[in-house]
Amino acid sequence: MLLLSIGYNNKKKYISIYKGLRMSISIVILAAGKGSRMKSTTPKVLHEISGKAMLFHAIDAGQKISDDITVVLYHQAQRVQAQIEAHYKNINFHMQDAEQFPGTGGAMKGVTTKYEKTLILNGDMPLITQDSLLALTGGDADINMSVIQLNDPSGYGRVIINNEKVQEIVEQKDCTEAQLQTKTVNAGIYCVNTQLLNRYIPLLSNDNAQEEYYLTDIVKMAVDEHKTVSPIYVEEEEFKGVNSKFDLATAEIIMQNRIKKELMEQGITMRFPDSIYIDCRATFEGECTLENGVTILGASKLINAHIKTNSIIEDSIIEDSDVGPMGRIRPLSYLKDTHVGNFVEVKKSELIGVKAGHLSYIGDATVGEGSNIGAGVITCNYDGKAKHKTTIGKNVFVGSDCQLVAPVNIEDDVIVAAGTTLNKDVPQGSLAITRSALKFVPNFFYKFFGK
Ligand code: UD1
Ligand code: MG
Repeated sequence: MLLLSIGYNNKKKYISIYKGLRMSISIVILAAGKGSRMKSTTPKVLHEISGKAMLFHAIDAGQKISDDITVVLYHQAQRVQAQIEAHYKNINFHMQDAEQFPGTGGAMKGVTTKYEKTLILNGDMPLITQDSLLALTGGDADINMSVIQLNDPSGYGRVIINNEKVQEIVEQKDCTEAQLQTKTVNAGIYCVNTQLLNRYIPLLSNDNAQEEYYLTDIVKMAVDEHKTVSPIYVEEEEFKGVNSKFDLATAEIIMQNRIKKELMEQGITMRFPDSIYIDCRATFEGECTLENGVTILGASKLINAHIKTNSIIEDSIIEDSDVGPMGRIRPLSYLKDTHVGNFVEVKKSELIGVKAGHLSYIGDATVGEGSNIGAGVITCNYDGKAKHKTTIGKNVFVGSDCQLVAPVNIEDDVIVAAGTTLNKDVPQGSLAITRSALKFVPNFFYKFFGK
């Protein structure tokens, strides 16, 4: 009961005691469930939260404390495994025989782990933190189990505690009237002595209301053998399972708040943070400002950047530059010492020391220092078959409403006159101009509309 009395709020102290044990824990992530309440053809655990599949959030938290991670799969197993393998090395997979052995206990049948303790996580708990995992893996109890106190315990397995000792977990569908009143519930994450786990799993039965093999039954088995079972009281927010699109949106809000709080603590300024969206992979350095309605996607990197109202940055680096309002920087762009104004779209381009103030499309281009891109300039990078590059040198002035038909190269110190359609390379120091002659027809207005 030592852990019970230390409690969740003192977990920091507790973690520091047990930090030395970090890499001797095995982790099993249960991700075989169907997730039918998501009403989606995408497997539940691949739904994204803040730019990353929820299963990956669990794997990332796990990898911070363990080098032996096994993911249990069944529904759409190949698709989930392929996604995991595209992002991670060294993850083990176990295929559940869910037809014969359904349920969380069935999921553990045949799983082998490397270390003395096995931490069992759910693939649909993306909000769990490394600190909580460490709190669950510490101590010398035979089983640490995560427990939450809830006003409304419905849906959860109830934890029956007598004289401060855990007796068993009873699933809601198997509860007596009296047991249903219990407000202490099983949060669904356990750290178990591996030897015990290996001995108990084959002994599980499906003699219950759902005819499933319940992992939770190992608790009563341990109690009957006078093993120690420690309840670790955890925060509901972190252990909430995502089962529906509403849960997904709720988890996203919680994660967004965490990301933004951490960044503000780091010194990032945010105007109306509730209107801002930031991918969990994005990083910030120096003094950055995000105005309202800004969206930062992918692994973008912002260094001393000012992103103005309603702009979108995706998988790009913005350094000592400002964007927007209503600017859009698409993947693989690099902006340095650059001003990008309203309604400018940049894609896969490098702009260093550039001004592009209004209404432009700059795609597959490099633009050199001191160059100005006038309003309405378009790089015509696509000919219907392939994408082509535009290269603009230093100190180039591209006047308004020009079309730069790629592939095209503009050397340094060039003026491209307003309205020019450029389809040839421009040598250094030149003026490029295509313009049909201007003529006046006297009194035409009056002839046409009458006086
Ligand atoms: C489980 C617990 C319950 C607890 C709750 C907390 C059991 C029997 N009950 O119930 O006490 O309060 O979690 O959220 O464990 N899974 C598989 N294979 C299966 C079934 C499930 O891998 O055959 C995986 C799911 O993908 C999921 C996890 O196990 O990640 C939990 O399954 P779920 O069906 O949500 O369990 P609950 O019924 O909610
Ligand atoms: Mg559940």
